[in-house]
Amino acid sequence: MNNTFLMACRGEKTDYTPVWIMRQAGRYLPEYRKVRQKVDFLTLCKTPELAAEVTLQPVNILKVDAAILFSDILIPVEAMGMKLEFSESKGPILYNPIRDEASLLMLRGLNPEEDVPFVADAIKLVRQQLDVPLIGFSGAPFTLATYMIEGGGTKNFINSKKMMYQNPALFHKLMDRLTEAVIRYVQAQIDAGVDAIQIFDSWVGSLSPLDFNIYALPYVQKIVAAVKTKLPIIYFAFNSSAMLPLVKQSGADVIGLDWRIEAADAVKALGTGCSIQGNMDPCILFGTRTLIKELVSHVLKSCEGARGHIFNLGHGILPETPVDNAVAMVEAVHELSSKVR
Ligand code: CP3
Repeated sequence: MNNTFLMACRGEKTDYTPVWIMRQAGRYLPEYRKVRQKVDFLTLCKTPELAAEVTLQPVNILKVDAAILFSDILIPVEAMGMKLEFSESKGPILYNPIRDEASLLMLRGLNPEEDVPFVADAIKLVRQQLDVPLIGFSGAPFTLATYMIEGGGTKNFINSKKMMYQNPALFHKLMDRLTEAVIRYVQAQIDAGVDAIQIFDSWVGSLSPLDFNIYALPYVQKIVAAVKTKLPIIYFAFNSSAMLPLVKQSGADVIGLDWRIEAADAVKALGTGCSIQGNMDPCILFGTRTLIKELVSHVLKSCEGARGHIFNLGHGILPETPVDNAVAMVEAVHELSSKVR
């Protein structure tokens, strides 16, 4: 197996900078759209043969250095008893959002072997056909909690923050339940054969540093402590560059960065106790090949002081992205970083 990605996670020297792309299996690929014509998104997540097929697509097409399991952060939330729907126009919808003690009591504990067996089955199928590491993942408790409290996406997180400020005990109870579920969910993925774990905290950037410290960080620390001894863990806290010293306290092996910070400044804030992942603006992939190569070169140079660097975009690749440009980015990372190192 090509272990470059895992070596960079651990901060070991590599021959070139490994690269993968968040949301690399998705609608920008015609091959993905072809599979999606036949089934809806949730059916795709729950059919191991199809989930495995689309997990492998970007590895073969883009030549990235890691695969990420095709699934969604809301799969375990549905398994805990919430009705989930993906609407083409509105994104995810969770019915009967958690707003009080009674709705919290309706939630079931997660038993991955029984509730989401298709996740382990997909991992086992992918592992048989893959010669790069496979990344498993989960949403972080805070991000999952906001979906469960809001009932879907939100601009200002009013219902979540109302609960935090009006009934903090209830919010913490929900976070405890989610932390337990995430640890079980991640452990099931490890048992099935993933090589690393990424924790997505997409909405934690809505919090002040003070509140991040109270309402999100302790729970991520618990998850990281449970996983870190087993395999590398990446913490991607989107929109959190103003609080990187706190994000670092998660204890994760790798900290994911979005594009709103110069990577060299992030390295200064994070130190050399962790590796970094990122951080090109996904919209650069709408530029010319020359621009893409220039920006890849810039990011590589900006990350030179890091303990280890895994190249990625600063958030998921957008559905409108030309595939050729994604391929050009991966090629540029491999070519330019081989010269640097
Ligand atoms: O990265 C990968 O290739 C692995 C698969 C993956 C998906 N979602 C597939 C997906 C992963 C790791 C996720 C994580 C996820 N899901 C996050 C965290 C990352 C982030 O973007 O911040 C979040 C917030 C979600 C919730 C979610 N799922 C939303 C908001 C949406 C709708 C938005 C959209 O792009 O349509 C989804 C749907 C979703 N998840 C799609 C894919 C490929 C599109 C579904 C389709 O095919 O119609």
